[in-house]
Amino acid sequence: MLVLGIESSCDETGVALVTMVPGDAKPTLLAQALHSQVQMHQAYGGVVPELASRDHIKRLLPLVRETMAQAKKTLQDVDVVAYTKGPGLAGALLVGAGAGCALAMALDKPTLGVHHLEGHLLSPFLGDATPSFPFVALLVSGGHTQLMRVEAVGQYTLMGETVDDAAGEAFDKSAKLLGLDYPGGAALSRLATLGDAKAFALPRPLLHDGTLDFSFAGLKTAVMTQWRKVGAHASEQDRANMAASTQAAIVEVLVAKSLAALRHSGFKRLVVAGGVGANAPLRTQLDAQCAKLQATVYYPPLALCSDNGAMIAAAAAMRIASGVEVPQKNYAFDVRPRWPLAEGAAIAT
Ligand code: KG4
Ligand code: ZN
Repeated sequence: MLVLGIESSCDETGVALVTMVPGDAKPTLLAQALHSQVQMHQAYGGVVPELASRDHIKRLLPLVRETMAQAKKTLQDVDVVAYTKGPGLAGALLVGAGAGCALAMALDKPTLGVHHLEGHLLSPFLGDATPSFPFVALLVSGGHTQLMRVEAVGQYTLMGETVDDAAGEAFDKSAKLLGLDYPGGAALSRLATLGDAKAFALPRPLLHDGTLDFSFAGLKTAVMTQWRKVGAHASEQDRANMAASTQAAIVEVLVAKSLAALRHSGFKRLVVAGGVGANAPLRTQLDAQCAKLQATVYYPPLALCSDNGAMIAAAAAMRIASGVEVPQKNYAFDVRPRWPLAEGAAIAT
């Protein structure tokens, strides 16, 4: 089964082709092409939705051609066209859904609308070391911070999530304060390597509240207040120190809550996915702490941490292969800009 995946929920246009034999545990990535709009949005300090949609329109079909050429396949070889149905920016999602359904209709092939977070959650199955079910998943992207109990493909329970800003947002907003370009998570992390994480005392929100929820809005305000105190005379070392202190605060909370979720579930496997999952100290600390619990941490290949078409194609292939979903020749597409992946369960740890 050959699945073409299209991702266009935010500021990356991603296309990929995966193959999966029903009965196999994991899909195989054959080819992928990606265009990041980050440079275009940098001038505005954040994603401009209308510009994002227009750029997706421009990039999508050339990326489809590039992917097919890389895989040495023709569009007729494709069995299913999958696209991100939500959550994300409405206009951006419509581009991927519209193009995907038009393509499928022209080819007389079925389509499948995929949940963006399910794509992230299942993306480690595209790596070498793949988890088996069940596991706990930490989803940390620019828009989401969630802990999920994953029993099988399509069986997800929300264990906890952010009550305000996402971890990625906390990285990005703090980075912006320090004068780093959008999206500043990776740049803040690089700057942090030169700084002292104890230089600024920042809060660890909800660390001991006994739930698996997160809150990062207060941390952002604390960074802002303390940075103002340093004032206009801040040195390069001050900037690095603030970057290190901010990163340490975010990472400490993410690690502590992930461990609590593992203990609560009794599972010995943790999957980390989403852009913030590329963060080096987060990975180091999770690996070390989980090893103490005899638990293993699984990550997607580094290149697949941020948004891409491969995770959408993979999630579709896994849903179909496991019988959770039958793709339909339904070309009356819709998108769901707001779409919870799973219902929540109140959890005390
Ligand atoms: O999953 P993603 O690519 O897009 C969304 O679906 O949101 O995540 C993007 C987020 C941004 O907030 C970005 O700053 C953050 O991931 N990010 C990082 C790192 N690389 C990307 N945050 C911390 N450290 C990194 N190395
Ligand atoms: Zn994402």
